[in-house]
Amino acid sequence: MHLHKYEKIWLIFGIGSLVLFLAVLGVAAFAFGQQPPSHMAKVDAQNLEESVFSEPGLDQINEDTYRARIVAMAFGYDPGTIEVPVGSTVIFEVTSSDVVHSFTIPGTNVNMMITPGHVNMAEYTFDEPGEYLVLCNEYCGTGHHYMQMKIEVTP
Ligand code: CUA
Repeated sequence: MHLHKYEKIWLIFGIGSLVLFLAVLGVAAFAFGQQPPSHMAKVDAQNLEESVFSEPGLDQINEDTYRARIVAMAFGYDPGTIEVPVGSTVIFEVTSSDVVHSFTIPGTNVNMMITPGHVNMAEYTFDEPGEYLVLCNEYCGTGHHYMQMKIEVTP
């Protein structure tokens, strides 16, 4: 088989970049121990009453930081409303008691899939007062389009 000179160059380039990429990845992962960020906090979805989600709601961590523990279910969220003062940073810890849902605050970068058995986390600072809608954008059943909650950010 005869290969054109340019074909050879491209082959070498292609295979070379693949080897280089895998080498960089391998050295980073195994020599430097770099792993993707993981929120692999787990929870027993069958038994949320005896977990940190036994009383979902808002906890104040410090002056302007809150933790919101929220349970997503067909077809809503518990609690259905939370209220924080403007400027607050909220760490959302969300799990599901049944199927896969999502926790999406339109207009922000909070958009996560909520998987039963996992504690899914996101953080957001609410710099603008107002009412923020939280929606589910993973189809979860007949009531999917009713599934929502509210975040009230007070001045
Ligand atoms: Cu929950 Cu769609």
